[in-house]
Amino acid sequence: MEQKDILKEIISHCKEYGFVFPSSEIYDGLAATYDYGQLGAELKNNIKTYWWKSMTQLNSNIVGIDTAIFMHPTTWKASGHVDAFNDPLIDNKDSKKRYRADVLLEEYLEKQSHKIQKEVEKGIKRFGESFDKEQFLATNPNVIRIKEKQAQIEARMKTALNENNLEDLRQLIIDLEIVCPISGSKNWTEVRQFNLMFSTSLGSVAGESSTIYLRPETAQGIFVNFLNVQKSGRMKIPFGIAQIGKAFRNEIVARQFIFRMREFEQMEMQFFVKPGEELTWYEHWKEVRKKWHLNLGLGESNYRFHDHIKLAHYANAACDIEFNFPMGFKELEGIHSRTDFDLKQHELHASKKLQYFDPITNESFVPYVIETSVGLDRLFLSVLSASYTEEILEDGSERIVLKIPAALAPYKIAILPLIKKDGLPDKAQEIMRMLQLDYTIQYDEKDSIGKRYRRQDAIGTPFAITVDHETLESNTVTIRNRDTMIQDRISIESLPTFLNSHCSWSTLLGALA
Ligand code: GAP
Repeated sequence: MEQKDILKEIISHCKEYGFVFPSSEIYDGLAATYDYGQLGAELKNNIKTYWWKSMTQLNSNIVGIDTAIFMHPTTWKASGHVDAFNDPLIDNKDSKKRYRADVLLEEYLEKQSHKIQKEVEKGIKRFGESFDKEQFLATNPNVIRIKEKQAQIEARMKTALNENNLEDLRQLIIDLEIVCPISGSKNWTEVRQFNLMFSTSLGSVAGESSTIYLRPETAQGIFVNFLNVQKSGRMKIPFGIAQIGKAFRNEIVARQFIFRMREFEQMEMQFFVKPGEELTWYEHWKEVRKKWHLNLGLGESNYRFHDHIKLAHYANAACDIEFNFPMGFKELEGIHSRTDFDLKQHELHASKKLQYFDPITNESFVPYVIETSVGLDRLFLSVLSASYTEEILEDGSERIVLKIPAALAPYKIAILPLIKKDGLPDKAQEIMRMLQLDYTIQYDEKDSIGKRYRRQDAIGTPFAITVDHETLESNTVTIRNRDTMIQDRISIESLPTFLNSHCSWSTLLGALA
């Protein structure tokens, strides 16, 4: 199936089974805003739990907080968001569509990488077993030419972005003959900067002084509480503060389902370290976060690191962990070495010291910060898109199965009495009562057992327990594995141990501890 079709399939699957709905759909929806349905809310909560536990439970020097969405407006002046949280936007005069100039250029660069990949494929065909990829990449004239071109574009783009040279950014788009994907024309407007923060008024008086912002990142709630947490928690450097919460950005180019929304959730952790040690910790957190993602089992080849071409105003090193979404590789998580920028700025604007006193050296200093910041909604999409599988079975029938990691699945178990009589429903309910204190369970007695299995496959339930006549005689049930469809007969007594070793939190967190 075409890559683009997969996203469409996933969107309609999400709606059909209650994962994600367009927001305020009865009023024809609100652009780039989505609601999570009954299964989506479960999956989202499970992803949050995986992140929260791995941060706060597996690290004795990381604690979690939950700060307000509204913050004192000076916060955003201090953080640089009022002056510099902008996107460079360009319009196509024919289609009237608006684009981020830097994204148009990034997409152009990505196309060049595809051309290199095509050259490699040609090389494999031509040279067969003797093909040496490294040598080919270093010597093939076409590859060298494309790489040189890429490097030149990257350098020019970096300079234009860093110097806020919007004219040259536009000129680069024109020089590269980039066309609008809708109209196909090169009829571009000037590039303009657009601030992404939403503002509103506090209380009943409107005006400059009462203007506040919906936070565009959760990180600032952590920075302004740095000393509160450090002192009340007697935290010693290095230590981290984690937070999960909503963030808001007036994204102009908001598309691709829940990938880019105006209201979304972030899971951020700020790790406070001694100045000078930040780049060692930066490398450490890159490794830790990569391992965390790979531990989900969605496939190593679906992830890659991408170093930032333009560093944000606060960073001295930054990269993204990108995921192979149905639309291609895109940012999933950012890892940033934020220096002491934020704490120093808050010291300045609040006229308060935000320093750590080191009892060993008897010195005070403003710590440096490594940040890990992952979008919850993007993680949700990565889990769904990698799990979504269409299979043709031996009998020629088709099944759609969500191979969601078991610990994250909305329901862990389906309990299915084979028929609706002979005491089977009573026995099934008894088993449900036994397991429901620890696991989310769906009870289903409607339709044939085959149809019920398909329904559970489609929502990603890893195990289906079937209660049949033999259950009443031997206190055993069949347990069906979603992915292999193999059924085993096991005793009811052994169900808790079985489930504990297949879908409890320790099955997922164990590899990280
Ligand atoms: N505190 C740093 C920060 O906010 P960011 O790279 O702008 O950094 C971090 O955002 C993560 O938040 C991104 O990697 C992405 O997963 C998520 N994110 C950002 N904008 C988003 C949007 N409009 N919709 C959904 N997720 C978004």
